[in-house]
Amino acid sequence: MSNSKLDRRLFMKGAGAAAFLTSAASLPAVSVSAKGMGHMSMSMAYDLNEEFNRIGSGDFKWDMIRKNARPYDVPFPMGVADMDFRTMPQITAALQSRLNHHNWGYEAPPADYKQNIVNWNKRRYDQDVDPSTIENCIGVLDGVSSALRTVCDPGDKVILHTPNYSSFFSVIPGALCELAESDLVIDDDGNYDFDYDDTERLLKDGAKAIILCNPQNPTGNCWTADQLRKLGDLANQYNALMIADEIHCDFINKNAEYVPYALLGEAYAMNSITLKSTSKSFNLAAHRTGYMFTDNKELLSRIKKIGNHNRFLLNTMGIIASNAAYKHGETYMDDMQAYMDGNAKFLEKFCKEEMKDVKYKVHEGTYLAWLDCKAVAKKLGDPEGDDRVGDMLKKFFIQKAGVNINPGENYGRTGVGYMRMNLGTTHRKLHGALNSMKAAIDAI
Ligand SMILES: Cc1ncc(COP(=O)(O)O)c(C=O)c1O
Repeated sequence: MSNSKLDRRLFMKGAGAAAFLTSAASLPAVSVSAKGMGHMSMSMAYDLNEEFNRIGSGDFKWDMIRKNARPYDVPFPMGVADMDFRTMPQITAALQSRLNHHNWGYEAPPADYKQNIVNWNKRRYDQDVDPSTIENCIGVLDGVSSALRTVCDPGDKVILHTPNYSSFFSVIPGALCELAESDLVIDDDGNYDFDYDDTERLLKDGAKAIILCNPQNPTGNCWTADQLRKLGDLANQYNALMIADEIHCDFINKNAEYVPYALLGEAYAMNSITLKSTSKSFNLAAHRTGYMFTDNKELLSRIKKIGNHNRFLLNTMGIIASNAAYKHGETYMDDMQAYMDGNAKFLEKFCKEEMKDVKYKVHEGTYLAWLDCKAVAKKLGDPEGDDRVGDMLKKFFIQKAGVNINPGENYGRTGVGYMRMNLGTTHRKLHGALNSMKAAIDAI
């Protein structure tokens, strides 16, 4: 696989993000709106254009896919939802400082750990989280699983609105529950909504919980207050717990708004648990650290007893990394959002002008792009008798373009014909991947 089609202007030494955004890609200057903070340009304090080499670290996104794809080369792995950037320096500094203390006995989280969680949610979302209602979890999925095991008996149904994050399909049976899949509805403009009638049908049928993904992975839409309220009213009416996974909430583009579920009002807050972490926002997934909170203290204490939380100690390094992230990460997060906005805008322009067989509506939240590849699938036909369109498309993009993106079917039955592309990488890599995909499609 050759990179010869990459736009050479992007390789100019010392070219910063602004230079890329305004010249090579002909994009408008990027700004980002964080709630209550107005519009901000990038600080340029962090070099997000650095091509950080992850090869050889044993990570899933690069090393695993490159191993599995052999003999094909995959210079553009854009599957697993993590990011390619160098970690924020304050995180590395905090970890290094702890390494200098040469003892690893049991230890408590830093004294300001919960306060930094509270501060982050207050500053960015004007959400007051009572520190006494925050509990640790070993990642968000662990917390989801604990909540399910607390409110469900074996065999109980759990509603998942799909397309939705693929691991929920294993977490639900892993908690001995049964998946009740409800298809999201999409209008002609590509806007998503819940199917409230279908949801009510499943609730009447005895579903005990709804897993909400806010914003939604993989479709990238932010749920509005009205949508959340309608869904929440149903959950409350039928006494099903709303498990609000808001792990992607720090990535919201400047035209969109994230509504924290628990801010809808007391009735919604009391019948829900919210799960978050720094693992997406600051790319700390390997540290296995997350947190959950709910105003419903009785529910929280049941989760503590029944869930996987009888010790509450997390990995020391994970806690230190997370703490440093929330303590020092405001500017970094704003810059990262602006950089992701740049990627999304560029992708949109590229699909409209250069790669018309792929349709993309700029996502509102997450750093994931949901690409409608039905026209490409049609062009390809089914030459090798694949059962799944997504597998065929995945193979095609790996073998002909060196790009790994994820099949839409992984996220539910309505994902057929879509592919999920992770934009958590440099402008240069994204541009390279798109040029390569375009060349492959043009050659069909
Ligand atoms: C919606 C959602 N929830 C949870 C996770 C995983 O979270 P964790 O690694 O903290 O368990 C992901 C990872 O992609 C995700 O997209």
